[in-house]
Amino acid sequence: MSGKIILLFVLHFILFVIGVPLMGFSTTTDTISSNSFLKDPEAIVSSGNVFKLGFFTPENTTNRYLGIFYTFSVKTVVWVANRDKPLKDSSNTVTISKNGNLVLINGRNQTVWSTNAKTSHANTILQIQDNGNLVLRDNIMGSIIWESFSHPTDTFLLTMKFFDNLTTGEKTLTSSWKNRFDPAVGSFMVGLEALNIPQVFIWKNHHPYWRSGPWNNQIFIGVKDEYKGYLSYFSVVNNHAGIIYLTGRYKGKFLLKSSLNSSGSLVLTMWDNEIKDWHILWSSHKNECDVYGTCGLFGVCNAQDSPICSCLRGFEPVNKGEWKRGNWINGCQRRKQLECDKSNNTGRSKGSGDGFLKLKFMKVPDFAEQFPSGQEDECRSICLRNCSCIAYAYDPNIGCMFWSKRLIDMQQFGSVGYDLYVRLSASELDNNKVKELFIIIAAVAVIFCISILIFIVWSRIVKRKGGKKKNEKIFKAGQIFSLDSTAIAIKDESQQVNIEELPLFTFEMLANATYQFHDNNLLGKGGFGPVYKGKLTNGKEIAIKRLSIASGQGMEEFMNEVILISKLQHRNLVRLHQCCVEKEEKMLIYEYMPNKSLDIYLFDPTHPSRNILSWTKRFGIIEGIGRGLLYLHRDSRLRIIHRDLKPSNILLDEDLNPKISDFGMARIFGGNQDYANTARVMGTYGYMAPEYAMEGRFSEKSDVYSFGVLMLEIVKGQKNSRYYNHEWSLSLLGCAWKLWSEDNVLAFVDENIADSNLEEEIVRCIQIALLCVQEFPKDRPIIQTVLSMLNREILDLPTPKQPIFAEKWNGLRGGSSQPISQVGFSINEVTLSELNGR
Ligand SMILES: *[C@@H]1O[C@H](CO)[C@@H](O)[C@H](O)[C@H]1NC(C)=O
Ligand SMILES: *[C@@H]1O[C@H](CO)[C@@H](O)[C@H](O)[C@H]1NC(C)=O
Ligand SMILES: *[C@@H]1O[C@H](CO)[C@@H](O)[C@H](O)[C@H]1NC(C)=O
Ligand SMILES: *[C@@H]1O[C@H](CO)[C@@H](O)[C@H](O)[C@H]1NC(C)=O
Ligand SMILES: *[C@@H]1O[C@H](CO)[C@@H](O)[C@H](O)[C@H]1NC(C)=O
Ligand SMILES: *[C@@H]1O[C@H](CO)[C@@H](O)[C@H](O)[C@H]1NC(C)=O
Repeated sequence: MSGKIILLFVLHFILFVIGVPLMGFSTTTDTISSNSFLKDPEAIVSSGNVFKLGFFTPENTTNRYLGIFYTFSVKTVVWVANRDKPLKDSSNTVTISKNGNLVLINGRNQTVWSTNAKTSHANTILQIQDNGNLVLRDNIMGSIIWESFSHPTDTFLLTMKFFDNLTTGEKTLTSSWKNRFDPAVGSFMVGLEALNIPQVFIWKNHHPYWRSGPWNNQIFIGVKDEYKGYLSYFSVVNNHAGIIYLTGRYKGKFLLKSSLNSSGSLVLTMWDNEIKDWHILWSSHKNECDVYGTCGLFGVCNAQDSPICSCLRGFEPVNKGEWKRGNWINGCQRRKQLECDKSNNTGRSKGSGDGFLKLKFMKVPDFAEQFPSGQEDECRSICLRNCSCIAYAYDPNIGCMFWSKRLIDMQQFGSVGYDLYVRLSASELDNNKVKELFIIIAAVAVIFCISILIFIVWSRIVKRKGGKKKNEKIFKAGQIFSLDSTAIAIKDESQQVNIEELPLFTFEMLANATYQFHDNNLLGKGGFGPVYKGKLTNGKEIAIKRLSIASGQGMEEFMNEVILISKLQHRNLVRLHQCCVEKEEKMLIYEYMPNKSLDIYLFDPTHPSRNILSWTKRFGIIEGIGRGLLYLHRDSRLRIIHRDLKPSNILLDEDLNPKISDFGMARIFGGNQDYANTARVMGTYGYMAPEYAMEGRFSEKSDVYSFGVLMLEIVKGQKNSRYYNHEWSLSLLGCAWKLWSEDNVLAFVDENIADSNLEEEIVRCIQIALLCVQEFPKDRPIIQTVLSMLNREILDLPTPKQPIFAEKWNGLRGGSSQPISQVGFSINEVTLSELNGR
């Protein structure tokens, strides 16, 4: 689940788009209405020629089924109507019955299957859509009566929503086929379990068979592959009205699907148009450890070990003989009673005799209870005070996770995962302390010797270089350095910056300034961690970005940001005051921006500011961002490509002056370098230029592209990735382009800023934005030119070319004549650097 796969995904999508017309179906419809019917073996095809509703026969049988499958891969069935009632011959008909339901009738005029929905009349219409949904609509009211997405078979398509109704316990579930040749309901089911902390479960005969681990608002923390990249394919949405659902993260639809196969594995696949087959990206079961509770209670599974199961320290097998034989299901039990239990204190207790064993890189057990808290230490003390608490773990987004009674389905991942603290009687811990002490002494001795060696080498180097200040620690960008240093100095080829000159903050000072990182002080959630508002003892306000350990921002991005931003000084760039590295904590301290970020102003419909952001203010913001960008590209001593320009990275000061922030991904370019390639494409879809998203090629012009998208969003007051025009099936870019080419671009402008005196300027702005988002970098103006255009130093604007990603897939429906290769759809929902918008 890495960025590379997404790259592949995008590439393949393009290939796919080009490839489809070769298999064309021409004279088909995508609907069945009350006066038409479908006779076996006819089919209806979605408007973009992606999905078909028709009849099929599985291999090795003669049974007929009504189902939905891909037009380009007819053996890939994603939904089956009559899965438990096979048809015996091919004299079957699908039609709309007198009461408006969809019915499947066999040769003997018997109704084999029906949608069985409540309808008030017969005037309904059935449509197969390009996302694979089969929708039965009331033809008069337009409301949806029934849809196949609410009654899935074994396949999850990425625009589906899997609900878990906590009130009724009703869930959207898919169930596996019985076997490869029989779509009847099999033994496995998959669905969302939203109670407590949301998790995805696979059940086998209603018993848990696989578990994703808790959702931490970014990833499922019990899935090892989710740690690989900055993204996962699914996300859980909680709309805070009690509705919680699982959905695909990409709305770039048709190419990815995940299905529960008949042996109980959830398998995510992507269509590979070159080999004309599905390519497996991920599957839930890679080894035995992925089976729920393989090692029983208090047992830990590690696929790298042999045997794979072991008891937690301080625990022993319930049945030693069986355990040795590899039957681990009975699990383990505690060797020594907890002090807490001995004192027979069921409620609060000091529990002074107990301690915690730290297990690293764990898939945390099932049945976690959530307790929101800002700090790991707090979890520890709460757990210690309560005798029922037998383990805890901490995640910055979830808070504390506590376990009581039992620990089941634990896995040791090896290099990723969470720290799990298990309560043990102090005597068990002491046992090992002697051993530990021994190891520590040995380690200290070794480290001591190495340090002396290093010191000798280092002092020689220093002597040779001469004249360098003592005690100054120098690190190169990207280099790993000791995490316990509170102050660092950074060096790269061009210049040295000494952060020691700045006032120092300790972790404690920052914790106090933010009331222990209390939620009330949370300003927003950045791509790599939460941002807090802090107030120092002298009253000065600061913003603190706390890089969470589980976040993607590694040392490299951290150093990058520190190096870059400490060198840059411009009124349209946010100022870094200080960074703080202490133990595992990495923090960046910025100047505080009372008005938060631009996205809140633009996109939050409930924010009162939507009305106060007049066109003049918006234009000022556009200009300010442009100037900041110009400074990055041209005017500073370095040439810097920001790579992640978007509204949530634009902060506003009291006077609404924009300041560009978040330099975690920015890159310095050498003197004559015009572009660079990266295998690690990071950024936010919707703002990423096509050549960067697809080929990893970035340059000044890819920042210009992002700036163009930003301008359109500022004019429209809507987010590119959220925007979808249902009437025309267009993205924001597509919409701007369509209206511009129809000479009706004023219809694009946010109603809140419509002002006839400024029309000309707004239209000009849209035209400049469209110039910035052109497909080929060479066509896009450099930022200097963009500013000159905005300032009217250049009066005559060139005519923009159509942007790629301008139209959605079904832009074809209207019979428009542009070549199909022009018709991408926006893959906007994908965010690579940032999993949740601020
Ligand atoms: C169909 O059944 C035959 C005989 O039972 C078997 O040899 C063949 O492999 C099966 N086909 C598939 C695709 O499994
Ligand atoms: C099928 O049954 C319906 C009622 O169930 C009836 O109205 C219709 O005439 C029958 N059609 C044929 C071909 O028998
Ligand atoms: C859960 O189901 C009940 C009963 O069907 C319904 O009233 C309620 O609105 C549902 N809640 C959600 C969050 O969907
Ligand atoms: C289900 O998927 C898993 C993982 O890809 C695979 O090992 C297994 O063979 C599949 N089972 C079937 C019946 O296809
Ligand atoms: C602990 O309490 C239970 C009842 O709550 C009692 O039966 C038992 O004897 C007590 N044990 C000790 C050691 O006090
Ligand atoms: C102790 O923990 C249990 C389980 O987490 C919880 O139900 C109980 O309310 C807690 N008791 C106290 C006094 O916090």
